[in-house]
Amino acid sequence: MLGEIISREHSYMVRLLVILDQKLNRLKQEQSINYLIVNDIVSYLQRHSELTHHPKEDLIYGYFIEHYGHEHKIENLALEHKQLSETTQEFADLLAMVLQDTVVPNDVFAQHLSHFIHQQKKHLDFEEREILPILKQNFTEQDWEAVEALWGSEDVDPLFGQNIEKEYQRLSEFMKTD
Ligand SMILES: [Fe+2]
Ligand SMILES: [Fe+2]
Repeated sequence: MLGEIISREHSYMVRLLVILDQKLNRLKQEQSINYLIVNDIVSYLQRHSELTHHPKEDLIYGYFIEHYGHEHKIENLALEHKQLSETTQEFADLLAMVLQDTVVPNDVFAQHLSHFIHQQKKHLDFEEREILPILKQNFTEQDWEAVEALWGSEDVDPLFGQNIEKEYQRLSEFMKTD
């Protein structure tokens, strides 16, 4: 069921956000961090979350509004996805600067990292706490089948799927040892 896939993907994102939180704590203690791991996480979120997770949710939310009427909390989410994507891009740009050896003070980076984690976490917590229960209460089995048919076949997850893509090997190895 798509609702379960959404929740599963949220749990993957939470795992990644926990890693980012650990990096943030290290920075606050003036310890060094591996920026490549941070970059791998942001790259995954830009690729997987933005290209398949959010569109899947947008489809489900759109279906809900069409069949069950206006729900203020749900209507705002498409805009939130857009804003989240902008925040992520801004953070990715800053990260690219760090990786290109541009001097970015630690506290400035930590501030942006903290904002990024907060925005991501706030959004997915809201969906888990407020939105998914609304969907689960209202959607019939036919609704879930309908959104699944609209979405089509399930996509491949390059990090948490059957095969870990080369690009995410480093992050995957890091998660095993962390
Ligand atoms: Fe979302
Ligand atoms: Fe989500």
